[in-house]
Amino acid sequence: MSIIKELNEDVKKLVEKAGYQVDNLILQPSGRRDLGEFQLNDAMNLAKQYKKAPRIIAEDIVKFLEQDDRFTNLNIAGPGFINITLTDEYLGSLLTKIYEDKNLNIDKRTPKKVVLDYGGANVAKALHVGHLRSANIGEALKRLATLLGYEVIGDAHLGDYGRPLGLVVLEIKKRYPDLTYFDSNYTGNFAEIKLPITNKDLEEIYPYASNKSKEDEGYLEEAREVTFKIQNHERGYYDLWKKVVEISKQDIKQVYDLLNVEFELWLGESDAAEYIEELTQIYEEKKILKESEGALVVEVKEEEDTSPMPPLLFKRSNGTISYETTDLATILQRKKELNPDEIWYCVDARQELHFEQVFRAARKAELVPEQVKLEFVGFGTMNGTDGKPFKTRDGGVMSLKELIELVEEETKKRINEETVEESKREGVAKTVAISTLKYADLLPFRGTDYIFDLEKFSDLDGKTGPYLLYSTIRMKSLLEKGKHLNIGKITKFKTETEKEIALTILRLPVILNKSLDSKSLNDITEYIYKLTSLYNKFYADNRILTEEDPKLQESWLTLTKIVYDINIMLLDVLAIKVPEKM
Ligand code: ARG
Repeated sequence: MSIIKELNEDVKKLVEKAGYQVDNLILQPSGRRDLGEFQLNDAMNLAKQYKKAPRIIAEDIVKFLEQDDRFTNLNIAGPGFINITLTDEYLGSLLTKIYEDKNLNIDKRTPKKVVLDYGGANVAKALHVGHLRSANIGEALKRLATLLGYEVIGDAHLGDYGRPLGLVVLEIKKRYPDLTYFDSNYTGNFAEIKLPITNKDLEEIYPYASNKSKEDEGYLEEAREVTFKIQNHERGYYDLWKKVVEISKQDIKQVYDLLNVEFELWLGESDAAEYIEELTQIYEEKKILKESEGALVVEVKEEEDTSPMPPLLFKRSNGTISYETTDLATILQRKKELNPDEIWYCVDARQELHFEQVFRAARKAELVPEQVKLEFVGFGTMNGTDGKPFKTRDGGVMSLKELIELVEEETKKRINEETVEESKREGVAKTVAISTLKYADLLPFRGTDYIFDLEKFSDLDGKTGPYLLYSTIRMKSLLEKGKHLNIGKITKFKTETEKEIALTILRLPVILNKSLDSKSLNDITEYIYKLTSLYNKFYADNRILTEEDPKLQESWLTLTKIVYDINIMLLDVLAIKVPEKM
């Protein structure tokens, strides 16, 4: 149990001794720091329950708190807010405990198995800015939930099965009609056949084919047929598709590596395909499918709906499988292969309707037991200064690689050439660029859109990734310089800033839980900024290494180490790497 939770429990017991029962007592950080460090607001509620004036209740409680020598400066404000301050000695001892065992500053949850569907890159298409958000938020959420005790299985759920692949394979056929893959007389092993195509080619082929299909109905029809062939494992087409997936996957992996994103599973839509038959059987047996203009659909509308809820397209009239059905098959697959307690989908908020349809259709057929939670964790878009989804200068879709390069150009300018030797500058600029993108991306609540502002995001002196990296490296360097000095106990505070740092440290478990509850990282990004800037103020005001009072010096170094460790831990949760120097 965390220190702060234990403190809440202790206060709860004292309140009980005073004769009052509070179910969930939580000390709040004081809104009036001149009156105390914490405030207890329960007297107001207790007043109704016990039919007494809140002030009388507050006085009763304070009498018991006063007998405890851990508390000081107890006072009652307004109608009955109790202000509480911890003695320096006690506050110091709590921090010392945290220094000795980091786990005392984390509240683990009851274990749970979660499948987290994030990333969602599409094979044969360049990753774009939308995929950045899924990767960043998903990865951080996974790390946070794991830290708090869940077993989280991250699945990349690659888009590798729909019409885009049909288009790509069709276009390859148009360009290379003599490829062995299209030779129906070939009886050898396709795996040995080389494909004269690189990932760069694929990135050009898909947009070309996609545009063409919009103008040319015949071409689109051909693409449908190819998609059907792939989905039905037709020799040659299926093998070429496999090859394309393989080439593209390597490239996708590189981008995710750059973003420090690691998936436990690299499954794709196509892996759910083997469950389609069973899925169809379930829906047929339960008589859930309806015919509609040659297609099969599932009605998912409910009476209470106030906005349109179209039926889910289960099978198109041409026999191809829809995105919706793939997601249903994936739920069945996950149930059978992983049997999770919850499935979370970290996907663009614009897909919310899709997931609502999928979840309802899944419930209708009871693909998972009722208690298994299916949750859509949607996120807003990253926009340009024009308020529209971020684009390249000439209005095209910006690939994630281009975006990373753009940021790198900017962070390169800010690398200190005196501290970072030349051979390392490139690598450091990259690490800092990733921190820039990630921190800015995780700073707003995930559901809101935000505007990409390169200058602001890469500022060494703002609420940014580079600021946090720079400050954290400086803490490390201080600890390094002071490694011959005593460290381990916090027994003294000189200024209010230090106490503020200490109180902020105690709040960490609350922040972690709040963040997991909302499945948004903004509480953590705000917290790490707050802790770091408080620390920097303290750092600027004091000369730690030359301090003459040994107790004070030890307290300061210990405080530094705790802040440093928290920063490292939280940056790791955010999947932000810290360079040696910058
Ligand atoms: N590939 C999809 C896209 O780029 C995202 C996949 C999200 N996950 C899912 N299970 N549908 O839009």
